[in-house]
Parts: sequence; C-alpha cells; structure tokens
Amino acid sequence: MGIDFGGSGIKGALIDTETGELTTERYRIPTPEPSTPEAVAETIRQLTEHFNYKGRMGVAFPAAVQAGIIQTAANIDKSWIGKDAPAILEEKTGCDTIIINDADAAGLAEMRFGHGRDLKGVGMIVTVGSGLGTALFTNGVLMPNTELGHIYYKDKIAEKWASDATRKKKDLSWKKWAKRFGKYLHYMEQLFYPELIIIGGGASKKFNKYEKYLHKVRTRILPAYLQNHAGIIGAAIEAKETEHKQEEEPQKAQPAE
Ligand code: BGC
Repeated sequence: MGIDFGGSGIKGALIDTETGELTTERYRIPTPEPSTPEAVAETIRQLTEHFNYKGRMGVAFPAAVQAGIIQTAANIDKSWIGKDAPAILEEKTGCDTIIINDADAAGLAEMRFGHGRDLKGVGMIVTVGSGLGTALFTNGVLMPNTELGHIYYKDKIAEKWASDATRKKKDLSWKKWAKRFGKYLHYMEQLFYPELIIIGGGASKKFNKYEKYLHKVRTRILPAYLQNHAGIIGAAIEAKETEHKQEEEPQKAQPAE
C-alpha cells in the first residue's frame, strides 16, 4: 500500500509494484488541521481500515526524512520534527511502515514507470503543491532529500514565491505564476543541468495552462505521466524494495553468555 501525506489531503491506494498500477480506487481524507503526529496517524489508520489492509506500507511525507526521523516541517505541524514516524504509524495501524520524502517518492515512480524510464544522466522532479518538492536522479539512482524548494531565489524562499499554494493565495493568473515558476526552473537548470525536468504534484494535471509560459527554460519539461498518483506509487515501490533489503540484513551476533 502507498500513502501520500499532502498539505490538503492524505491519499492512499493499493499498488501493483511490478506494473505501477493502482489495484484499487484512490481514497482521500482531508489532512487534519493541525497536522499533528496523533491526528495524521489516526487519518492513516482510517485509510488502512478503508482498505482493510494489514501489510507493509510506504508513506510519502512532505519533509526531509533520515532513517525514519522527520527532519523538517515547512508545511506540516512543527511537532513532527525529531519524531520516529514509522514507529508512530506502526503503533497506530499495526502495519509495517517505511517513510520517504514525497518528491523522492514521486520521482521513484516516474523513473520506474513514467517519463523518466531509461533516462540517462540527470533527471529532476519538481512537485508543485503546498510547497515545492524536488528529487534528483542520476541514471535512475536517487540522491534523497534534496530540499531545493527552500533555496533562495533572489531574496525569497523559492517555495514561498512559486508554489501552487502561493498561486492560489495571491490569486495569480497562470501566466503570472508561470513567470515565477519558469525563473525557478531556469535557476535549477543552471545549477544542475538536468536532461529532463518532470513536474509532479497537483499542478501536473494543469500543465497545459502554463506550459507555454515556460519557454525560457531550455531543458525538456514534461508533466508527470502518473500525475499526482506518483507519490502513492513511489511510496509503495519503496516499501516493497526496502522489505527485501531488511530481509537480507545480517542478524546481529548475540553476545556470548
Ligand atoms: C518540504 C519538502 C517537500 C515539499 C513538497 C517542502 O516544503 O520541505 O520536503 O518535498 O515541500 O511537499
């Protein structure tokens, strides 16, 4: 099972990790306000109950994540910082849980089953929603937790200036917003020289509204093939693949009596 914890909704589905297809309808519950660990864990429990699911699950988080510990909380309740998310979710749901950054999850899915398939060189995913999330790949291998939505563009934090949430809050036209987003993408291409930029998140479905305003970016840009299912699918892929790694881990030697 894959779950995507977003700024406005927490979404889940059962996934066939061999094909990247959803084997159930996607189910969405609005993100609780405030999005505290207790409230989010309860929402995720409701998702597992909806699917009557007890197996292993991957949860995509809008945060930098190291060994299951939440490191940042730009768009979620600050009390997540320092928390062991898999432990909290396992206790609440009874499901064996791994977590991954949401943009990394979306990127994994696109690299495996979407437009990044067989891509040689550097691929970049930018998810556009409540924040700006990024994922970087070289020959399909992820460098996790790039937080390039938090980079300063001129004197502004990029995601505060060019996210979809800002477009809605400031009631910017697609053209006005895309001018900002295009500048951000151009800045990214000057830093990383990717072969391809994939746009994920909610804005991936609206690509035709702003594609024409991104002409200053020289890199090929495509909307996520998996649209905003990419996060759910990538979280499930990560759960499946790390399961084998855990099985392969050698047992710790027992101390001699
Ligand atoms: C977070 C990232 C996340 C992005 C998209 C940012 O505010 O810091 O970890 O990937 O939002 O949700």
